[in-house]
Amino acid sequence: MISKALALMMVLFSLTQGAISDYEDQLSLGGNLFLINRQYMITADYVPEDLVMPNVRRLNSSAMMRKEAAEALEKLFDAAKEEEGYTLVAVSGYRSYQTQKNIYNRRVKNAGQKKADQFVALPGSSEHQLGLAMDVGRRSNTKLKASFGNTPEGHWLAENCYRFGFILRYKKEWEEITGYGYEPWHIRYVGVEHALRIQELNIPFEEYVALLRAAQTSTEQGDGV
Ligand code: DAL
Ligand code: ZN
Repeated sequence: MISKALALMMVLFSLTQGAISDYEDQLSLGGNLFLINRQYMITADYVPEDLVMPNVRRLNSSAMMRKEAAEALEKLFDAAKEEEGYTLVAVSGYRSYQTQKNIYNRRVKNAGQKKADQFVALPGSSEHQLGLAMDVGRRSNTKLKASFGNTPEGHWLAENCYRFGFILRYKKEWEEITGYGYEPWHIRYVGVEHALRIQELNIPFEEYVALLRAAQTSTEQGDGV
């Protein structure tokens, strides 16, 4: 794994002065780089304004995403089909605060608190409420299980989603940092530029956002670039 100092230098190097304000906007609620997790939560009333239904194969109607992410998802699914003949399925996209609450409560009831907390975000802390996440399945099996990561479609998704602006958010080796178990099916939209950099650095989104903030501060203070 690349050292933190080297990663910071790489991010610093790629940040131009003019881009700083853009990144600041992107890191705010409504931006593609907004970090949401157990520590950083949003309110129940947050609903993205530009939700659309992507034109992809889907399990049901719970597959909306914000427009830019939906268009990227269409390209991702098209590429899986054209390049490998894989039919990916959109299983779960945007979820309202109330839907997330229902899912969480149901999982607690069926699997217990510990298991629920390992795989389901508390309402207000899910990327699904941002409209920037999608759970992906295969045509032959849309169950969201760790075994998806060992399927050809799961491998392809992990290796190629960055090309379309998505990152695999919950890798096994990052459980301590992300706070969630391994979810090879959950992809998060951050935009192509950042997805490519995160793929190269191979670090969790939490660390990438911290690096970006450190690089911004450092640039603003005139330390580099
Ligand atoms: N499964 C992820 C952590 C969520 O519920 O948002
Ligand atoms: Zn998910």
